Amino acid sequence: MRILVVGGGGREHALTWKIAQSPLVDAIWCAPGNAGMAAVAECVDIGAEDIEALAGLAQDKKIDLTVVGPEAPLVAGIADLFQDRGLAVFGPTREAARMEGSKDFAKQLMLDAGVPTGKAEVFTDYEAAEACILKNKAPYVVKADGLAAGKGVVIAQDDEAAYKALKACFLDRSFGSAGEKVLIEEFLEGQEVSILCFVDGEDILPMAPAQDYKRIGDGDSGPNTGGMGSYSPVPVLSDEDYQRCVEEILRPTARALATRGIHYQGILYAGIILTAEGPKVLEYNVRFGDPETQAVLPRLESDIVEAMLAVVEGRLAGKSLQWKDDPCVTVVIASGGYPAAYKKGYPVSGLEAAGSLAGVTVFHAGTSLGDGREVLTNGGRVLGVSALGADFAAARDRAYEAAGMIGFTDIYYRSDIALRTLEV
Ligand code: GLY
Repeated sequence: MRILVVGGGGREHALTWKIAQSPLVDAIWCAPGNAGMAAVAECVDIGAEDIEALAGLAQDKKIDLTVVGPEAPLVAGIADLFQDRGLAVFGPTREAARMEGSKDFAKQLMLDAGVPTGKAEVFTDYEAAEACILKNKAPYVVKADGLAAGKGVVIAQDDEAAYKALKACFLDRSFGSAGEKVLIEEFLEGQEVSILCFVDGEDILPMAPAQDYKRIGDGDSGPNTGGMGSYSPVPVLSDEDYQRCVEEILRPTARALATRGIHYQGILYAGIILTAEGPKVLEYNVRFGDPETQAVLPRLESDIVEAMLAVVEGRLAGKSLQWKDDPCVTVVIASGGYPAAYKKGYPVSGLEAAGSLAGVTVFHAGTSLGDGREVLTNGGRVLGVSALGADFAAARDRAYEAAGMIGFTDIYYRSDIALRTLEV
């Protein structure tokens, strides 16, 4: 088979790495890819959002299956376009992708289906939203309805922060049309767990759970990022609560989509908070998580391409996945300054030595190849160092040992990834 992977971050490198292990696969193309993906695939300089050009590439290269990494092309309708052209694609249609593309749509679906989630009110103007803040008590979660490049969700600890977030959406129009509708949600207290799930209509195949770290600093301090680390499985999530997540959240959600006449095919990612009242949904995403994928896929023994084909061909029912018992810890290595301004173009050293440690895989995120084919930093999140180990302590030690072998100017990473797993 000939596979095209759309995207160029750590998640897409992990997907490409896993896809490359499938005996079903002869060749892989990535668009746009990164320096790590270039080692196992042919990278083509087409952006993940240029869906017309991607369809042209899939036709030219006679691609058998296209796997879409990021949400933006899905929300823009890449699956619809490919299907119209008779091209097989792993990822939901534009209508189904509203589960991530419209927080209001997802919330209504959950409420209709009785899926546990935080209470929310929806607003289309500043004054009404301000009145909601006046009559309630902080903290709140203020969410722009549409896609806002990961910046549309604000946890407001006080009324001032909530007004600021509302002003950004309604008055400053910082997120354009994505902020024309805003949800003010109840703040859910508890640890967060991500469950990525293969979905084919009403048939679901959940993956092992993971947890990610969104803040830049140790102890969950500082601003939000695209994710500074992750681990899988999640010791704080009991088997019983995992089953509740499957039966009370994922299955009814797939059923509710089907009831609405939406045939969902792809990954549905549930971001879940383990509250004192039980698991509740924080948000849905319509693709693999980043950096959860980098911690989940090293544990997957089954052929990912078989699972993807089962979804695309409508035969997921009855399929199962095999997992390694070993936990995996992923430490994200970033450019100093991220998530604010940072510099790019620094040479990266130590990749080979780090990647040759037992159980370690170094996934590239923001990297490019220089004129001499040397690896250069090319983004805020540069690499994800994933390590398997016999237990979390061993996986963590290996991940940090490998991270310590990598060097570039202004390198930064958190030192407390997966530390809490040692306390459970
Ligand atoms: N880890 C969060 C996300 O992928 O959106």
